[in-house]
Amino acid sequence: MTELLWNSLLNLHHAICNSSASVDFAAIQSDGSVLLNQLTDSAIVIITVSEVEPNLSGKEAVFRLRGKTTIECVKQGKLTVIDRDSFICYLPYCFLPLLAKQKKRAISVAHFAQTLDGKIATKTGDSKWIGNDQNLIHAHRMRALSCSILVGRNTVLEDKPSLTVRHVKGKNPKKIVISSSPCDMSSLLSDEQEGIIVFGKTDQPEMKGLDYHKLASQNGHINCNTILEAMYEKGIHSVYVEGGAITTSNFLKDNAIDILQLHISPMVFGSGQSAIELPGIDKVNEAIQFTKFQFQRVGDTIMFVGELNTNQ
Ligand SMILES: NC(=O)c1ccc[n+]([C@@H]2O[C@H](COP(=O)([O-])OP(=O)(O)OC[C@H]3O[C@@H](n4cnc5c(N)ncnc54)[C@H](OP(=O)(O)O)[C@@H]3O)[C@@H](O)[C@H]2O)c1
Repeated sequence: MTELLWNSLLNLHHAICNSSASVDFAAIQSDGSVLLNQLTDSAIVIITVSEVEPNLSGKEAVFRLRGKTTIECVKQGKLTVIDRDSFICYLPYCFLPLLAKQKKRAISVAHFAQTLDGKIATKTGDSKWIGNDQNLIHAHRMRALSCSILVGRNTVLEDKPSLTVRHVKGKNPKKIVISSSPCDMSSLLSDEQEGIIVFGKTDQPEMKGLDYHKLASQNGHINCNTILEAMYEKGIHSVYVEGGAITTSNFLKDNAIDILQLHISPMVFGSGQSAIELPGIDKVNEAIQFTKFQFQRVGDTIMFVGELNTNQ
């Protein structure tokens, strides 16, 4: 992806996050800057998100975004095939804050790197690295295009992640952990100025650098939609859920994942931790189904991207 294209995606994410008006279309200018609902002579890419289509001059590339992930390149303009495909891959995530404002909750995209037999860690908890280098870059791009990143307590303890965008240019998203007891978060704090948000179900003593919120729970479980609503209250409109299995499975069980990305690595563990653990079902027709899905290339591997119906 060219630097100009990546800068324009970062600018688009920023413009959409900060827009309080309704958006019909976005125009990327030749210098990578972005205007919303405004067309100038220097527009090189137009992305329409409503039925209102601007008067186009004919030279721009045009994309039409409908729903969470349905994006169509109506006209390629002067874009290369690589740039066109990069836009198709990343543009939808820039617009998720618009959906958040409709739903009054953060919009969630969950990501895992898993083996062919659906494992995200060995039986000793080792998971570095199941995905390839391109997957790592993809995850960092997604972090940069999200308002926040969320992980569960065990992932912080096991992996000691920094949750930064260090492999790409961009701003680190707000870091969020679900944890109900004190937990060593020093790996996250290292380069963090803003503080970390922690959601939990117990009363916690005030801890330096942590913005702790107790949320209602039932039998030890916080409904993940409550977590997304609490994020929205704090002005966070999108979240990249990066596991582990308990956390992502809880989001799935609560019908609180909008988009699921599964990077599939050509490895078999034969044992270890499953990516998703849900209560058993008896019939195939009880399976969670995706309203839309596609397989995208990530270097020499593939990533499943599926959209879930969270309106039910
Ligand atoms: N391959 C990959 O892409 C990938 C990505 C991330 C992690 N991993 C691996 O996954 C493993 C860790 O995953 P894990 O499944 O053991 O744990 P986890 O999901 O990281 O953390 C689980 C904990 O988070 C809290 N939690 C999550 N959802 C909650 C909810 N709805 N309500 C209340 N509390 C909630 C609970 O903490 P409390 O105990 O405080 O209640 C729970 O015990 C590590 O081995 C890591 O390497 C792999």
